[in-house]
Amino acid sequence: MALDLLGDRRRTHHCGELRKAHTGQKVFLAGWVARRRDLGNLIFLDLRDHTGVVQVVVNAESSPEAHKKAELVRSEFVVGVEGEVVLRAQGTLNPQIATGEVEVKASTLLLLNEAKTPPFPIEDETRTSEDTRLRYRYLDLRRARMQRNIRLRHQACMETREHMGGHGFIEIETPFMTRSTPEGARDYLVPSRVRQGHFYALPQSPQLFKQLFMIAGFDRYFQIVRCFRDEDLRADRQPEFTQIDVEMAFPTREELFEIIEGLMQKLLSLVDVKVELPFARLSYDIAMEKYGSDKPDLRFGLEWKRLHLPGGKLSAVKGFQVTKALRVPGAAAQISRSQFDRYQETLKQMGAANSAYLIVTDAGIQSRMKNALGDDGLQAIVAATEAQAGDLVVLLGAELDSVENVRALDQASGWLRLELANKFELIKPGLWTFAWIVDFPMFDYDKNEKRYAAMHHPFTSPREEDLDKLESDPSSVKALAYDLVLNGSEIGGGSIRMHRPDIQKRVFRVLGLSDEKARERFGFFVDALEYGAPPHGGIALGVDRIVALLAGESSIREVIAFPKTASATDLMCEAPATVDPEQLTELGLKIVKF
Ligand code: AMO
Repeated sequence: MALDLLGDRRRTHHCGELRKAHTGQKVFLAGWVARRRDLGNLIFLDLRDHTGVVQVVVNAESSPEAHKKAELVRSEFVVGVEGEVVLRAQGTLNPQIATGEVEVKASTLLLLNEAKTPPFPIEDETRTSEDTRLRYRYLDLRRARMQRNIRLRHQACMETREHMGGHGFIEIETPFMTRSTPEGARDYLVPSRVRQGHFYALPQSPQLFKQLFMIAGFDRYFQIVRCFRDEDLRADRQPEFTQIDVEMAFPTREELFEIIEGLMQKLLSLVDVKVELPFARLSYDIAMEKYGSDKPDLRFGLEWKRLHLPGGKLSAVKGFQVTKALRVPGAAAQISRSQFDRYQETLKQMGAANSAYLIVTDAGIQSRMKNALGDDGLQAIVAATEAQAGDLVVLLGAELDSVENVRALDQASGWLRLELANKFELIKPGLWTFAWIVDFPMFDYDKNEKRYAAMHHPFTSPREEDLDKLESDPSSVKALAYDLVLNGSEIGGGSIRMHRPDIQKRVFRVLGLSDEKARERFGFFVDALEYGAPPHGGIALGVDRIVALLAGESSIREVIAFPKTASATDLMCEAPATVDPEQLTELGLKIVKF
């Protein structure tokens, strides 16, 4: 097919912007043909660019040459159209599209490129498998929904730069080829050619570099930065993802919170949502007890309560020595035994072996626990949970009041709370509920490895008042760490750091890192702390998660131009891939199958 040249023609307008007011104007548009309808003497082309679609009409009588070319056009061909904007005839208006009152009467048609038939139609709603979409991502990205998402992401980044810059933060880049930074995942490694047997690690975050900026006197730093983590992937996790990384010297937690709250307010205004400030603050302990989660979805109520019945009634019931109860208003009629049995199976797998429910009706209280608790026991539960006729009360129990049991119980209660909210449709659309989760425990005890791990990361400061318990009772030490949660999604996390080398070394020791080991891994950083490190702290926000929430997408893959699949592969470029044997030799590497 003979193709035309664009030459020095410039587009005068975008397709989606033409309106009634443009009537009579001569325009030159260019884009992709979304659809062609051939009515003989008249050929209609729906011309699409990133702004939308406009109808082009090519008339065989008035523009015979253009009409001849239009006969050759297929979907996704690239064309240029010169013509006049005219009003559509009454009865042919299309209220579905923004340009639906007008059309472009083509005088010239340029065939700029052909296209193979795409593997799926370029439409907003697609039933194509995600694998096919990812394999042909450049076509998938042509869809209006993906265009919107990626452009929204751009706007969010622009807004961030303006906001952070306006608060005196400067953007500084940090290396990608570096040493391991402990954020709890595995590292992606890059082998060195010049020092065989040595590896760079791609950063899990720029954590140490941003702290070094504070020591270097940069005071307020931010960066929109890629991070790399080799961990199990889910809808909200990618092996490479983007953070808005922030650090400030001489911070108060409240000052940092205010800056971030202001940023969130601006980001939400991109989707016309008004946010009330300040955000709620909730301690980790309360979040776990009431919501069974350190990222509670606060768009709905449903709060768990620890039950202490008068006369220790529950402690006599096997498996309910520790009990949590949750009242679901008005749900009595909608729960069935088989449904609850299904919940019970999952709860068991989560370590909450004991669960039961009761329903309150006008005729009385019904429950499988009746034999064990008697009428007065059931009455006491109803009184403690303030349940009314028509309500459902769910109970979760554990045998011993141990840290592990309570943790398993809390975790299971968090899962069940979300299940119930979904089942009873308690999450109303249009709500945006933020919360800061504060006062996290400093350490997590790893029973298998028999050692403490940092719950946030090893550079987080303990609360000053807990310093004397650091060695004697690490489990009771709280950290100056915080997470930002939006609608049940953890969108950010950070902390006030240790700026004193003596405390940093004590924390390393609790984590099982001897002074030598710590020096081996973070020597440069421990050294730097000795040269006048100011008090400092910061946060990192997950760009992908925030933009996915703004776009109303349930997976962050929908807001990343070229994401990886759940098995961390790029289906389009087929990465990871094998390499030439010569490359391996050069790097001093040999592949051994285990
Ligand atoms: P953290 O590990 O909590 O903190 O990460 C901060 C935020 O980054 C996002 N995030 C992810 N998003 C997509 N895919 C992933 N695999 C992924 N992992 C994390 C989350 C999370 O809240 N250096 C510290 C921050 C600090 O202390 O200042 C850090 O990286 O939204």
